[in-house]
Amino acid sequence: MQISLSPEVQLSYDNVGSGQPLVLLHAFPLSHEMWRGQIREFADDYQIIAPDARGFGESTSFDDLSTDAEPSLQLVAQDVVALLDRLGVTQPIILCGLSMGGYTALEFARQFPDRLAGLILADTRADADSDEAKKSRDEMIEFARSHTGEAVAEKMLPKLLGQTTREHNLAVAARVRELAEPLTGHNAAAMLTALRNRRDSTEMLSEIKVPTLVVGGAEDEICSPEIMAAMAAKIHGARHETIRDAGHLSNLEAPESFNAVLREWLSENFAV
Ligand code: MLT
Repeated sequence: MQISLSPEVQLSYDNVGSGQPLVLLHAFPLSHEMWRGQIREFADDYQIIAPDARGFGESTSFDDLSTDAEPSLQLVAQDVVALLDRLGVTQPIILCGLSMGGYTALEFARQFPDRLAGLILADTRADADSDEAKKSRDEMIEFARSHTGEAVAEKMLPKLLGQTTREHNLAVAARVRELAEPLTGHNAAAMLTALRNRRDSTEMLSEIKVPTLVVGGAEDEICSPEIMAAMAAKIHGARHETIRDAGHLSNLEAPESFNAVLREWLSENFAV
């Protein structure tokens, strides 16, 4: 489905099921299709809304935006709230973001705390890019400008997937390539710039007032269990769970364990 948020910005999204809204925000360089296994699992009990960030899926390409505004996660979070408004969703949402989706979820929590009922931070982190991370981000931005999104994904694969998946589950790598295929190099570069320049959210973690689940793969090389544990420790009452045999894309690598962790936490915190 597609919806206009403004004369310039259109978002593609899925909106299925009914119940308390559960919004799923995807990772870089994928699309909302990465949530297919969770949409199937939870649509009987929740209204699942899964958008593509601008530049991804069928959402407006950065090339088509006349605005001079730098790509930013603040804007991506504002797109999410604009989508909820356009869909008439006024009830506070449970917001789940994985990696880039998690950075966006933290931006959303900062800007729109009243729209939030619960938070799931998957394979993500609250700090900004370090100087070293910015340097390799700049190299990736340069690479993306002259390559496809799929080539960017290929370059990132060793870090996106855990060792167990890389060695024993080649279908996941194929799925990641497929999910990154629609992304253009230019859109990848624009969003990488937003990731590079994202603000540090560490200080605002203590202001999060809603039930929060922090969940990540045991083999995640971008957001290790230690990083996730430290983030969870700063959020009042947060639960931290680690998923065995999964890396950074834990929902794709170990969907059954990922869903079981979400299911248990959701049923403890939100009646269906
Ligand atoms: C993601 O999975 O969204 C990216 O790895 C995030 C990042 O590169 O910081």
